[in-house]
Amino acid sequence: MESKEKKEKKKNLILIGFMGSGKTTFGRWLADRCKMEFCDTDAYIENKQGCTVKEIFAAQGEMCFRDMETQALRELCESPDGMVIAAGGGLPVREENRSLLGQLGYVVYLETSQDELVRRLSSDNTRPLLAGGGLREKIRDLMAAREGIYRETADIILNTDRCTFEQMYKNVAGAFR
Ligand code: S3P
Repeated sequence: MESKEKKEKKKNLILIGFMGSGKTTFGRWLADRCKMEFCDTDAYIENKQGCTVKEIFAAQGEMCFRDMETQALRELCESPDGMVIAAGGGLPVREENRSLLGQLGYVVYLETSQDELVRRLSSDNTRPLLAGGGLREKIRDLMAAREGIYRETADIILNTDRCTFEQMYKNVAGAFR
C-alpha cells in the first residue's frame, strides 16, 4: 500500500554536476527548447541576498552559503512545477539536499572529463573553491569526493564532452517522458 506520507515527485528537471559542466548554459537552452521556466540556484540565492556567491563566501563563509542552498531547495519544492533547475556544483553533497532533489524532480548528472573542466574553468574567477592556483589538483580532489554522490543522486547520466545540446536534449527527453 502507498504510504500517505510519501510525497509525489514534482515535474521539474534538475541538472547537477561539477562547476563548468554546463548546467547553466545547457539548462537555459533546454528550458527554451522545452518551453519551461529556468532557475539557477546560484542566481536564485544571489537575487535573494543582493550579492554574488563569491561575496557570500567571503563575508559569511561556505556553511552559510550551504544553508542558503538548502533553503532555496525547500522553497523550490513549494513552487509550481515545470522548471529546468541548474543546481550549484556542491549542492548535492549535503544529504538533506539529495532528499529534497529527489522530491523536486528528475535529476540529470552532466558528466564532464577533468581535462575538459580544466579547459573550461582556467580563466574563471567567480568560484571561490577554485581560487588561488592549482586548478587541476583542486578539480581532481573535489571530483574524487563528489563523483560518487553525483552518480548516486542522478536518475540519468549524460556525458557532455562530445555531445551537442540537441543530442543531450534527446537523451533527456527520452528518459523524462
Ligand atoms: C560550487 C559551485 C558553484 C557555486 C559555488 C560553489 C561548488 O556553482 O554554487 O561557487 O561547491 O561546486 P556552479 O556549479 O554553478 O559553478
